Amino acid sequence: MAARSEARSRADAGQAAIACPVGARADSASNDTECTVSTPNPAFRADVLAGLSARPRAIPARWFYDRRGSELFEAITHLPEYYLTRVERSILSAHAADVARLTGPGCVVVEFGSGSSAKTPLLLSAVDPSAYVPIDISGEFLRESAAALAKQFPELPIHPVEGDFMHRLELPPEIGDARRLGFFPGSTIGNMTAAAAVDLLRAMADTLGEGSKLLIGIDRIKPANVLIPAYDDAQGVTAEFNLNLLHRINRELDGNLPVGAFRHVAQWNDTEARIEMHLETTHDVAFTVDGHPFAISKGKTIHTENSHKYGPRDARLLLRAGAWTPVAEWTDRDGLFALILAEARPVPAAP
Ligand code: TRP
Repeated sequence: MAARSEARSRADAGQAAIACPVGARADSASNDTECTVSTPNPAFRADVLAGLSARPRAIPARWFYDRRGSELFEAITHLPEYYLTRVERSILSAHAADVARLTGPGCVVVEFGSGSSAKTPLLLSAVDPSAYVPIDISGEFLRESAAALAKQFPELPIHPVEGDFMHRLELPPEIGDARRLGFFPGSTIGNMTAAAAVDLLRAMADTLGEGSKLLIGIDRIKPANVLIPAYDDAQGVTAEFNLNLLHRINRELDGNLPVGAFRHVAQWNDTEARIEMHLETTHDVAFTVDGHPFAISKGKTIHTENSHKYGPRDARLLLRAGAWTPVAEWTDRDGLFALILAEARPVPAAP
């Protein structure tokens, strides 16, 4: 209940900020004024126009995370059905000391994502790092969570990096050559196809360097009656999160999608071992985005997200394919979720 009212009140705040002229943006790019008139984000525009023209229709999930989307996602992590956050946090609190023992003190924690969750403090208190480097594409979220962490860890040097961690990034020079511990919680790796996940893991190995470690959360395959509610909650927060993408298109790309004619669908694709989120039309619709006309007939979907699930061996194979050697793995009593520590080691030429 608390999660819902939190999501609602934040969503309302978002609504106020979007009462802007056409072409205005209400996302992180306009942080200095409430409402900055600017041209639409060209990458967002290109992805949406291409995605609505493709068959099957699909829009990359990264566009979920405007300010309101990020807030709705935060609310999802507090939902009773969304076991991932809760379980991962409990594994981390049970085993943070083991992580610290295996990494040693004084390393630099590099988090892929803005670290707004309760997991980051758990890790930071246990490993006692020499610095913390959060990397996120959303500058505003990054600054907010860095400020919150600075209050909790006043002695810890924090060097936020605004950027896309899908590619190799330069780490701040201030951190020197201290050993690196990458942190990638939340099973975000599962939101990529296996090929993209391997590319990302290799980019992380390049960013962090040989001898670095990576602590990664990966959600496990489990029965659909547990998986589906995690992506289709009773309070409708996940539905609101998914539908926010359409609101965002309307806000930022001068669209007129009839959002009420779409419904949130979450389904298990067993062949691909993934939960899929779609937006399905409840009747025939026609609309324009940035002047381009589109029509979608009743019952067709826009595919918006995948969340791949991995068995224990699958997860370790994925890491090895991405140039990381698993060194330790922890799970909860029910084996719902895995936290894996891996190391970037040179691969021997021969067996
Ligand atoms: N990686 C998480 C997961 O797949 C977070 C996430 C991404 C998510 N997109 C989502 C959760 C959409 C709910 C709905 O669960």
